[in-house]
Parts: sequence; structure tokens; C-alpha cells
Amino acid sequence: MTETMRAAYITSYGSPDVIQYGELPVPAPGPTDVLVRVDVVAVNHVDTFVRAGAYATSTPFPFVIGRDLVGTVVRSSVAEFAPGDRVWCNSLGHDGRQGSFAEFAVVPRDRLYLLPEGVEPAEAVAVLHAAATAYLALFRTGGLAPGETVLVLGAGGGVGSALVQLASAAGARVVASCSPDDFDWVQSCGAEQVFDYHSEVPASAVDVWIDNSGRHDLEAAVPLLAQGGRIIALAGMAARPVLPIGALYTRDASIRGFVISNASAGDLADAAKLINGQLAAKRLRARTRPALPLSAAADAHRQMESGVRGRILLNVSGT
Ligand SMILES: NC(=O)c1ccc[n+]([C@@H]2O[C@H](COP(=O)([O-])OP(=O)(O)OC[C@H]3O[C@@H](n4cnc5c(N)ncnc54)[C@H](OP(=O)(O)O)[C@@H]3O)[C@@H](O)[C@H]2O)c1
Repeated sequence: MTETMRAAYITSYGSPDVIQYGELPVPAPGPTDVLVRVDVVAVNHVDTFVRAGAYATSTPFPFVIGRDLVGTVVRSSVAEFAPGDRVWCNSLGHDGRQGSFAEFAVVPRDRLYLLPEGVEPAEAVAVLHAAATAYLALFRTGGLAPGETVLVLGAGGGVGSALVQLASAAGARVVASCSPDDFDWVQSCGAEQVFDYHSEVPASAVDVWIDNSGRHDLEAAVPLLAQGGRIIALAGMAARPVLPIGALYTRDASIRGFVISNASAGDLADAAKLINGQLAAKRLRARTRPALPLSAAADAHRQMESGVRGRILLNVSGT
């Protein structure tokens, strides 16, 4: 194997212009790590926050960017993985771990999962971050039970689509807002009722309320909550909503926030189990854009920040 690899990396925080594309040494796996040849990666909003220095986390420079990958094991000294295994990871590129936007990546054994048979790398990588986020929001943080009603605002995006798919698969009733262009898609994901977020507000009682747009209009949200309702905060770093506290506590309601970056390896493994089951059953899908080469990583971040619709993927194999 060659000693160097092509990688997209940063040596300082800043705009997408700080992303460099060039040669770095192939990383050396430790005794509990696996060396993976990367096939395909995806861009998520959090990648742009880490690159910009807006999300505080350890990034030893030169720092390879990117969280998610689907690839193939090339070297492993742990029993669970062997060379040739098709695998995925969705927790690189933060907390001191180098990222996935490179020809090779070192992945700790407890953050690596087998790709189910019959699942294409691109279809998997497009959902990994969003679906794990949706699992944490709905089940670990939200305590969603079958038969409950979930309101998903901004359901046309990556996390929103995954929330709708996982909640409906779990037997919840899903009400969702999106642009009219996305009505068909969001209904095909499992939403029972869709409405246009530009002009309408929901009317029914809600057990779990999730706003992917990050606006968090709590004056509208709290009166909609059923007794024991949960508002899950996962977006909107700059939002400063007004909270009608009386309407909250008299419903036994709560607001709980989380970031996937803080999730334990155990939480992520639980999410991975669900994701693999849904991928294998072809019940977890995302809309994607035509894949870019790894050399276009800076442009991919620019596109993400300009608000393009559809998951941005980069093909690494063949780079
Ligand atoms: N806490 C965590 O761990 C975590 C993890 C992953 C993501 N996130 C955050 O979750 C958010 C969504 O991520 P994503 O990957 O799903 O992004 P995305 O694919 O870009 O989707 C964002 C969605 O929000 C919709 N939207 C925009 N303005 C809206 C409004 N006023 N009302 C309702 N919907 C609106 C957009 O609809 P249009 O397309 O119609 O504009 C789009 O469907 C981001 O802020 C991201 O940083 C948090």
C-alpha cells in the first residue's frame, strides 16, 4: 500500500477556502482501530460548523474534514472486522478523531458497522448522519411510543425525512411541514398529514414536536402539546424564542436538546442497528445530488452553505 493518500483537510478554521486538497500520510491504526479504504462520503451541516470553528471540538491540524463514510476494511486486528468487509461510520471528524474525506480513514472498532448485503454505498452514506440524528431525537431523547403523534417541521430536508421515515416505521402518527414541492416526497416517507410551512399551522395535539428549521416558535408550539409532550431541540444555534412557561408546566411538558456529537458509542451503535435494519428493508432513503469528486470538497461546503437541496455526496474511490 502507498504511504500517502489524497485528502481534503484544513490547517486553520475559516470559510470553505481553508479546505485544502492534497497528500497526507496514510493514518496508522491503533490496536482497537480498523483501517478503511473510503468509497463515498457525505456532507452535513455540522461539517461546515467544524471547519469554520463554530462548533468547538478538538481538531488536530492538519485535520481531515468529514463525519460519514462507507468503505472497505483493508487492515484490522480486531475480531469483528476482516479485510474486504463493507463497512460504514458516522462519527469521525470531531473530538480529536480525524475525518472521513480521504482515501483512507482509521475508525475505532466501536464506531464501525457492517454495511448490509444489497445496500449501495451511496444510498447508505446519504442517510447515516440524518438517520442517527433522527433515532436520537425520536427514541433516545424523545421517548416516542407507538400511536403517539410527532410533528416534524422542515420535513423535506435530510434530518426531517429521516424523522418521518423512522417515526412512521415505529407506529407513530406523523404530521409534517415542508414546501409544497416536497409534499409527495414527505408523504412517501410516511407522513399522514403534510402542510405548507409558509402559510399554515398544525391544529392537532402533539406528543413530540421537532423543528428542523431551528426557528422554534415556542409560543405556537407549547399550546399544541399534549399532556407530557416533548419539544426536542436539535437545530437553531442563534434562536432566542419566547417560552410560555405556564402553558409548558401545566401540561407536564418538557424541552430537551441534544447534539449527535455528544452521543456515546453505545447510543450510536443502537442507532446503527436500527439504520441497518431499515436500509436492508429499503425503508430508509434520502434525496441526493450527483456525486462530486473528493477534490471538490471546498465547493461541496460552499454548496451546503448556499442551501442547495438534496444530500451532497463525494466519490472517494477513483480519486
Ligand atoms: N443536533 C444534532 O445533533 C443535529 C444533527 C444533524 C443536523 N442538525 C441540524 O438540523 C438542521 C437540519 O439538518 P438537515 O441536514 O436536515 O438540513 P437540510 O437537509 O438542509 O434541511 C433543512 C430543512 O429545513 C427546511 N426549512 C427551512 N426554513 C424553514 C421554515 N421556516 N419552516 C420549516 N422548515 C424550514 C428546509 O425546507 P426548504 O428546502 O423548503 O427550504 C429543509 O427541508 C440543521 O440546522 C442541522 O445543523 C442537528
